[in-house]
Amino acid sequence: MSNKTILVTGGAGYIGSHTVRQLGEAGEKIVVLDNLSTGFEAAILYGDFVKGDTGDSELVGKILADYDVDTVIHFAAHTIVPESVSNPLKYYGNNTCNSRSLLEQCNAHGVKNFIFSSTAAVYGILESGYAKEDTPKNPINAYGTSKLMTEMMLKDVSFASDLNYVALRYFNVAGSDPECRIGQSTPKSTLLIKVAAEAAVGKRDELYIFGTDYPTEDGTGIRDYIHVEDLADAHLRALDYLRNGGESTSLNVGYGHGYSVREVLDAVERVDGKPLNIVEKERRAGDPPTLVSIADEIKTKLKWEPKYDDLDVIVKTSLDWEYKLKEKPEGFA
Ligand code: UD1
Repeated sequence: MSNKTILVTGGAGYIGSHTVRQLGEAGEKIVVLDNLSTGFEAAILYGDFVKGDTGDSELVGKILADYDVDTVIHFAAHTIVPESVSNPLKYYGNNTCNSRSLLEQCNAHGVKNFIFSSTAAVYGILESGYAKEDTPKNPINAYGTSKLMTEMMLKDVSFASDLNYVALRYFNVAGSDPECRIGQSTPKSTLLIKVAAEAAVGKRDELYIFGTDYPTEDGTGIRDYIHVEDLADAHLRALDYLRNGGESTSLNVGYGHGYSVREVLDAVERVDGKPLNIVEKERRAGDPPTLVSIADEIKTKLKWEPKYDDLDVIVKTSLDWEYKLKEKPEGFA
């Protein structure tokens, strides 16, 4: 713990709010900057809140001047992959240009540490299906490219200034706070476990499997699903690492093994205790057969030890939150 403040952009969103909660529980001082375009103020359980954009240099400069900020954790971003294909400039604007102006303010105000939400989408489609940090990056959509461009900026800025960074490349995030205080409330989500939980509680009539002819054991796509609590914890480990003088780095955050779509849906039916209405469809454009992390480096560098590497636990916390949302539209207290 430190007496410095952490600026968390996007702290009202799904992953940001879980990280803010863990930081608050650890006694850290926090200021959240979020424009509430997809986040919820009620999801911010700790710290001060400022409503605004990361691209608003005047506002960011004022926050950095008013608070004694040593670390910025930058979650604020657009995250819907198909939308990034139809409207790429929206993604380059928010995810790349706004990150650039945030970094400019960080340099101007002497911020030392920067933790960035990157993504497995930087790798694109891999023949082996397994991604290590030094695997060539070939993003296939503007979302992945917009995040990779920010990683490149960070690398250059860290050479040219005192700022050090950790970029965390998230694999498939799912699950919610095990105590059900906060969870994934993002509207119009297309993510498998979120969509399956919505179907389980009756918000959707049917659920699609996109592709049953992939070259995998059961013909459906394989992904590395990671619990949001473990992902949030990776940010706290990155914070310790940077505050203790760790060098700039980009790291995969996943469990290093995957589940197929069918295995995930079996888990949802098993945990929920009733069948889903599943319809088999064509492959979805741009989906690789397999995308799984090789994630040894984060364990040695950040001393990250996952605690929720269990598909049924991931699914149960997603279902618990979805049942809560059914009663309260946003779900938050
Ligand atoms: C997600 C991320 C992406 C990241 C990737 C890491 C978002 C929007 N996307 O994409 O940035 O790079 O994880 O692996 O955050 N599926 C169905 N039916 C559905 C929904 C999905 O069968 O209704 C299948 C997909 O075809 C895929 C798997 O489930 O095989 C996971 O899909 P999804 O949850 O959408 O995540 P990714 O596309 O992997």
